[in-house]
Amino acid sequence: MKVIKTIDEFKEIRKNIGDRKIGFVPTMGGLHEGHLSLVKKSVNENDVTVVSVYLNPTQFNDKNDLLTYPADFDDDKELLEKADVDFLFAPTYTEMYPDDYRYKVTENDLSKLLCGASRPGHFDGVLTVVMKLFNIVKPHNAYFGEKDFQQLELLRGMVKAFFMDINIVACPIVREKNGLAISSRNRKLSEKGLKTAPRLHEILCNDSTLEEKKKELEDAGFTVDYLTVKDKRLFAAAFLENVRLIDNVEYK
Ligand code: PAF
Repeated sequence: MKVIKTIDEFKEIRKNIGDRKIGFVPTMGGLHEGHLSLVKKSVNENDVTVVSVYLNPTQFNDKNDLLTYPADFDDDKELLEKADVDFLFAPTYTEMYPDDYRYKVTENDLSKLLCGASRPGHFDGVLTVVMKLFNIVKPHNAYFGEKDFQQLELLRGMVKAFFMDINIVACPIVREKNGLAISSRNRKLSEKGLKTAPRLHEILCNDSTLEEKKKELEDAGFTVDYLTVKDKRLFAAAFLENVRLIDNVEYK
């Protein structure tokens, strides 16, 4: 696996890849089984797999969340090497934002709901960085997890709106045996928190009403940010020990 830190270097490599099929997995590091499932799919479906590790500051509305984001570059690199990734792209802020974020991609509808309502500017940051990464990597297929379902929908919309020739591949949520959706942020939970966290998925899936679910979550120790049904899916975000957990399930 080759590690690339600059856009110029990546462009040279991109030229040499030529017409071979490229799969791309954008990440912010802190890699776990969820990311590795996307990488595995990309390696199986493409000639070349590129993974980016870039902790994108523009999508964090909470500075503390950015500063405490659990990621270790050497661990990530080792995992990607073992997963047969061809190129790891790990740029710096000055590489990615030579304009210091004067220009951005904005969506004015879905991005204002759910996570967007409580994290102002979050999806502008996501769409902007993914647009930049797509323009650098020029992949055929790009892989995203359904845990961030809203992000996935917004990226699908962006690719369509800007006539980008990129296939967005949705990958199912990877869960612990106890149902907890795997996330880098789970690492911020205490042992006690990790025992409580699976209740989120359990409560989303049980037969109770939305009002009852909210109460059940609060009784379990969560502070509910939102619990909303949209397009036959139930979406939830809730804080546990100040860690923001999200999940979504089908809802009939
Ligand atoms: O899902 C993530 O990890 C990030 O939002 C992404 C897509 C890598 C953009 O920074």
